[in-house]
Amino acid sequence: VRDLAGEAAARDAADPLAGWRERFHLPEPELVYLDGNSLGPLPEQTREAVRRAVDEEWGRGLVRSWDSWLHLGVEIGDVLGPLIGAEPGEVALSDQTSVDLFKLADAALGAAGGADIVTEADNFPSDRYVLAGVAARHGGRLRLVPPAPSAEDVAAVLDGGVGLVSLSLVSYRSGAFLDAAGIGEVARRHGAFTLWDLSHAAGAVPCRLRDAGADLAIGCTYKYLNGGPGAPAFLWVRRDLQDRLLQPISGWFGHRDMFGFHDTYEPAPDIRRFLTGTPPILSMVAAGEGIRLVAEAGIGAIRAKSVALTSWFIELAHEYLDGLGFTVATPEEPDRRGSHVALRHEAAWPVTQALRSLGVIVDYRTPELVRFGFSPLVNRYADVAVAIERTARVVEERRHEAFPADRGEVT
Ligand SMILES: Cc1ncc(COP(=O)(O)O)c(C=O)c1O
Repeated sequence: VRDLAGEAAARDAADPLAGWRERFHLPEPELVYLDGNSLGPLPEQTREAVRRAVDEEWGRGLVRSWDSWLHLGVEIGDVLGPLIGAEPGEVALSDQTSVDLFKLADAALGAAGGADIVTEADNFPSDRYVLAGVAARHGGRLRLVPPAPSAEDVAAVLDGGVGLVSLSLVSYRSGAFLDAAGIGEVARRHGAFTLWDLSHAAGAVPCRLRDAGADLAIGCTYKYLNGGPGAPAFLWVRRDLQDRLLQPISGWFGHRDMFGFHDTYEPAPDIRRFLTGTPPILSMVAAGEGIRLVAEAGIGAIRAKSVALTSWFIELAHEYLDGLGFTVATPEEPDRRGSHVALRHEAAWPVTQALRSLGVIVDYRTPELVRFGFSPLVNRYADVAVAIERTARVVEERRHEAFPADRGEVT
């Protein structure tokens, strides 16, 4: 029998990122939190920054604080930029991911030849709903490619009728990590824009948007960027496209001269034209701290540890869980996956609940996946070992049978 705890301790002792865990507020030290791909944990510095924003900026500064708040979304965007391969002035925090997707997809179709949108059959449902709506607004429709599409799969549905290819760089379900450069190349050859959803990629994998020849991107800040529940999303528009694209929500934050209170809308010449209205400043402050923390640690080191954590988890899943009805639903080649691993099991939802009751926080995704998300700044190799041992124990001891099979409202 392997000494998993001993192996984990040796790996943790050699981990160059081990010290970053202390930068987070983790009031239950025994809790194994493997859901940072859904809601990243709270950085210590965020507590202080939000307190300061509440007490000093809002409380004392009142409306005078708008002098420092007005451009916060663009300033934080510049901190995020290097994590996703963007240049200064190309990223801003604004709205929600779904809203930013709508804005940029609509802007792209407004400038493209075709009105159809290519997306993945298994893309995040909100993305599919929004993209179907945008295509319909332009007289087009969705063209679906199979899950984890290759550049060839995308090429097979491309022709002059497609104006936009919009995919998730890392799949929320399987964790598959797509070939952005290859897909960008075939899209460009057919005159279509590319718009990447980086929600499960930003802060976990280097996105290299410019190197990949991408055009547009959006993503959540509350997952691997640890921005806090409902923190504003980010959007990226390559600089040379900024004055060519017009987004549909022509609000005052996108105006060239917002405090001129002009009668008509004139879009700002830069990334600000993709903003809409007054942002949630307290959430923006929190997002800024989470992003700063990730930027300080460095995406290269984060990715290296993410690959090591997920590789070890997959190795142990085969050894300990293959015989218990689990299969690995995530690509096993490290270059082809992000930072979570999905295991398929016919009782995935009861297993998820049983694991939570044993202090291992994972989540469930339809139809029968348990997702184990690894946040390299927080998670230890010990978390991998504990998660594997407790998952095996749940099924061996049939503990999941005590939990309801009916899906909860939040999974
Ligand atoms: C891949 C992906 N896209 C979009 C969203 C939607 O984000 P929001 O609810 O902030 O609009 C999510 C949320 O989890 C997501 O995982």
